Amino acid sequence: FSLAVLASGRGSNLQALLDAIAAGTLPARVAGVFSDKPACGAIGIARDRGLPHVALRPRDYPDRDAHDEALFDAVAAVQPDLIVCAGYLRIISERTVRRFESRMVNIHPSLLPRHPGLDTHARVLAAGETEHGASVHAVIPALDAGPVLAQARIPVLPGDTPEALAGRLLPREHALLVASVALLATGRARLGAAGFELDGHPL
Ligand code: GRF
Repeated sequence: FSLAVLASGRGSNLQALLDAIAAGTLPARVAGVFSDKPACGAIGIARDRGLPHVALRPRDYPDRDAHDEALFDAVAAVQPDLIVCAGYLRIISERTVRRFESRMVNIHPSLLPRHPGLDTHARVLAAGETEHGASVHAVIPALDAGPVLAQARIPVLPGDTPEALAGRLLPREHALLVASVALLATGRARLGAAGFELDGHPL
């Protein structure tokens, strides 16, 4: 079961997937790592591990769609069974989402449908919410809006800063992402046009 991982940042979610694969708890392989940032941590991890990787800078392309098409042509070339977006910070074009429909998931650091978009930790605090979390969801053209496969929850603690909240959430994200990808890799979870099924039961 081959994965294409898209990232723009330090790559801790990629590392969590690689650790689970190495430990034998995730029956999958990372066929490629793809980014809009050649110098990001995730690309560094791929390079250090000898994994195929492609990083294309948006400024080298005439427009957003040209960059999107070039990067996802490189993704298509590794023929992934599943595309995992983990901190890929560019909006993916509708054409690309449709090209990979039902084969693309994203991990988002909020309890969707609350707080789609950026700066979720600060927004949870600003809203005075008592719980936070992360969601693994199917990517659809609307931002952070696809059907959710699974979520992890943490309490908001008194005096929490966005950084403290993010730091407490991150390990839970890693576990959530590994478990979600494992459900898809083993076929227990399936993503169809109507959303996810788990063991044949629609979620
Ligand atoms: C994670 O917090 C993820 O939820 C969000 O971006 C961050 C990616 O972190 N989408 P990393 O690059 O995987 O360490």
